[in-house]
Order: sequence, then structure tokens, then C-alpha cells
Amino acid sequence: MTSTEQWDPDTYERFKAERDRPALDLYALLDPVPGGRAVDLGCGAGHLTARLAERLGAAQVTGIDSSAAMLDRAAAHASDVVSFEAGDLATWGDPADPVDVVSANASLHWVPDHADVLARWTSALAPGGQLAVQVPANSDHPSHRTAVEVASEPRFAEAFAAVGGPPPDPVAEHVLAPEDYAELLWDLGYEAPVVRLQVYGPVLPSTAAVVDWMEGTSLTRFAKVLDEDTYRALVDRYRERLVEVVGGRRPYYFAFKRILMVARRPN
Ligand SMILES: C[S@@+](CC[C@H](N)C(=O)[O-])C[C@H]1O[C@@H](n2cnc3c(N)ncnc32)[C@H](O)[C@@H]1O
Repeated sequence: MTSTEQWDPDTYERFKAERDRPALDLYALLDPVPGGRAVDLGCGAGHLTARLAERLGAAQVTGIDSSAAMLDRAAAHASDVVSFEAGDLATWGDPADPVDVVSANASLHWVPDHADVLARWTSALAPGGQLAVQVPANSDHPSHRTAVEVASEPRFAEAFAAVGGPPPDPVAEHVLAPEDYAELLWDLGYEAPVVRLQVYGPVLPSTAAVVDWMEGTSLTRFAKVLDEDTYRALVDRYRERLVEVVGGRRPYYFAFKRILMVARRPN
């Protein structure tokens, strides 16, 4: 299982409303499954698992995550319908125990080999079952490019040498083009897959606030392997460089591309 112990629910939830919006748009594309079963892979702090359960009217929704810190936070959202367990979304999927909905919001991009992973998830969907996935597609945005650039500056490159170099940007490494996902879903046998590229524009107080946003997600890959002092120095340098690159804007319109996909297996 990928270790994701660097996840901090408080940091991640700093922009809760802005981060929730794509998930709620994704859930709106799903048909309810009264009495059905669903999984929320990479469920994080669990509040969206509860929203998914409401939207679906399902009898059982299981949130699965590999981070103990996130699962601790999620426990507050457990109910007769919603439960949480530890697991790896990269290997999840038992064809002998199919579910009606597989949902993964802002989590699939943390693992490689999406063709294989989506095939495994599909094998665990019942006939007529629905898949709903949302991934960021913004690795070309200055917020991501600047993080890659700063991590390769000599003083940080030296620190990263001990772990074989700076951890790569998972969005750049793993996320496919929207049309590739559409073809993949078609090849997996889904009927009329819907795949959308949407720009969300959270308005942040300033350019520097992008750093707080990124600390909750993308920069966790650096926090995971650096000591605290080096990580804080990297974050400071990242803030300085990002303001140079995009300007010190107040407020800052964070043009954030995301891919939303929903598809149904034939009955
Ligand atoms: C950006 S958060 C999204 C959380 C939640 N889905 C949401 O939208 O609020 C990504 C989540 O994916 C989880 N994650 C990353 N890799 C994972 C893996 N291989 N297996 C299970 N969960 C994973 C992380 O622990 C984290 O909680």
C-alpha cells in the first residue's frame, strides 16, 4: 500500500467548500441506487462519503483510505449506512463481492497505471453499476510547475538525493488526457461514458494562499520525505518563487482544471 501518512486533515480541510464543489458536481451526475451498495475510494476525512450516501440513497457506503489520520477524522461521519476501513485503492476490487457504485474523488491520481486500476474497479461493479471519478488535471499550472522547479534547486536537490530525487508530481505522472479516459472507459465496456474537463476557479485571498492549498495536497509528497526544517524552507522558497512567477495578486483566481467522469456498465 502507498504510505500516505503525511496527510493532515486540518491542512486539507482549510479550503473545504472549494475542494468539495467538484465532488458534489460529480455526485450530481450519478443516478440514485436506493438500497444499493457503494464504495468511496480514497475517502479522506469522510464528509463527502456521507454526502455520496445521501445522494445515492444507498443502504451501505464504505469509505476506504490508506491514511490513519484521515480515517480517524472520517469516523465522525460513520452511521448505520456509512462505514470506513483501511485499504489501498490501487488494489481494491473483488469481482466476487460487487457493488453498485464505485466513486473516487481527488484520489486516483495518487496511484499509477490507471488503465489497470480502472479495469479492477470495473470488475467489481455489478451489472448496471456506475463509476464516478474526479482527478485534477492541472500539472501545467504554475502552482505545480513551480513546485517541481523549486524542488530541483541545488539545496533541495541535495536533500532529495537521499531518496533518489524529488518525488515526481503525481498529477503529471499519472493523470491521462480526458479523451484517453473516455476511450479507456469505452474499451472497458461502459455505455456512453461522460468525461468532462472543467475549470474550477476558487478565489483565494492572495497568490500566497495557493501555498496553503498546495500544502494540503500536492506538497505532501515532499513533506513525506524531508525533515521538518528542510520542508519548511522549501515551502518558504516555493511561496517566494510563486509570487515572482504569477505576481502578488489579491485576490487570486486559481484556475484549476479537473476531469470528471461518470459511466455505467451495461445490465
Ligand atoms: C486529496 S484527498 C481526497 C479525499 C476525499 N476523497 C475528498 O475529496 O475530500 C486524497 C485521499 O486519497 C487517499 N489516498 C491516497 N493514496 C491512496 C491509496 N493508495 N489507497 C487509499 N487511499 C489513498 C489519501 O490518504 C487522501 O485521504
